[in-house]
Amino acid sequence: MRVHSPVLAEQFMNQNLSLNVELGARTYPIMIGTGLLRESGLLDPYVGGRDVLIVTNDQLVPLYLNPVEGLVTGSRVKTLVLPEGESAKTLNTLNLIFDALVQHRFGRDCVLVALGGGVIGDITGFAAATWQRGVDFIQIPTTLLAQVDSSVGGKTAVNHPGGKNLIGAFHQPLCVVSDMDTLNSLPERELGAGLAEVVKYGLLGDAEFFAWLEAEYPGLLQRDKERLQHVVRTSCEIKARIVAADEREQGQRALLNLGHTFGHAIERCAGYGTWLHGEAVAAGMCMAAAFSHRLGWLSTDELARTRHLLAHLQLPIDPPGVPPAEFLSAMSLDKKVIAGHIRLVLMRAIGQAEVTADYPEHDLVDFLSEQFVR
Ligand code: NAD
Ligand code: GLY
Repeated sequence: MRVHSPVLAEQFMNQNLSLNVELGARTYPIMIGTGLLRESGLLDPYVGGRDVLIVTNDQLVPLYLNPVEGLVTGSRVKTLVLPEGESAKTLNTLNLIFDALVQHRFGRDCVLVALGGGVIGDITGFAAATWQRGVDFIQIPTTLLAQVDSSVGGKTAVNHPGGKNLIGAFHQPLCVVSDMDTLNSLPERELGAGLAEVVKYGLLGDAEFFAWLEAEYPGLLQRDKERLQHVVRTSCEIKARIVAADEREQGQRALLNLGHTFGHAIERCAGYGTWLHGEAVAAGMCMAAAFSHRLGWLSTDELARTRHLLAHLQLPIDPPGVPPAEFLSAMSLDKKVIAGHIRLVLMRAIGQAEVTADYPEHDLVDFLSEQFVR
């Protein structure tokens, strides 16, 4: 690992706070810790004196721009402030990044730095993937969701009016810097949305981690730093392993979409922006668990544990009221639909998920009718 500051190098080695996403020559570290944004010159080994454009939003400027500027020394550093929110994740906003790169005459050797949540990370990553056919970028995720999911693995995108993340590319960052201190300022609802994605990792591949979450959730809600660091690290370990094995989602990476086909339909039917993505994923995972139970895959006890943990984390565990046919139609817009059949991530047990299209279609229709009759 390329760590510049001797203090940090020692901290990482002693406490083993960094882990790698192993992708051959494109292997990169995820640094996880506290006080990382105070480490002057932390990014110098990655930037190496090249021009830097920090891309962030208006909410994050007063909170973190100053320290992040200090992570790079000896480079020309410019900043671009984008509007906040999912509604800004568009081609028009992307163009603002290209305008800034043109204005500052940044060439193929520049480095983009994404400072923010998943929206800033996705759009900046896509700008980096496409500017002059691809330049380097660095992720500094500031939401829990971005630290455990969107900053890792190289999926970058903007939305199209026809759907979320329809225009995108795989483009891996040079490194990821996850500073737990940034979670202090995160609104409570956003913390919850991130915790939903954390539970996802337990459900899809790590029963022990799920049991740890059942025992330790009060500390997470109180933002205990050590526990948060543990969940970021464990989640990133699981995601890094899956991405290393299947970078382009030809197989097992689709497991990371547990709860997402139901969740995306909830987001769409409720009206984008009404539910946070993580909240929809929480209710979506409960639906995936309930459908798995209906098919005889998941035990009654494990279905109940799934719902209880998400409820304890103050997340929604039931979908909003929607006509079943409308919900099914929203589900069929999912990117995982192949030849008209909806592939789902279902659970055999807590910690054991599978991607499957092997279920009777009428079962899904009946299941949705039952879900929405309450
Ligand atoms: P977000 O980026 O919109 O951030 C949520 C809100 O929190 C914003 O208002 C933001 O300004 C604010 N914020 C961010 N950090 C803060 C901080 N430290 N303190 C105070 N406020 C802060 O939302 P998100 O949940 O981080 O990301 C959602 C996006 O991520 C979606 O667009 C989704 O499609 C994408 N995503 C991508 C992947 C991937 O693999 N690329 C995975 C999951 C989600
Ligand atoms: N968030 C799903 C993935 O990265 O594949």
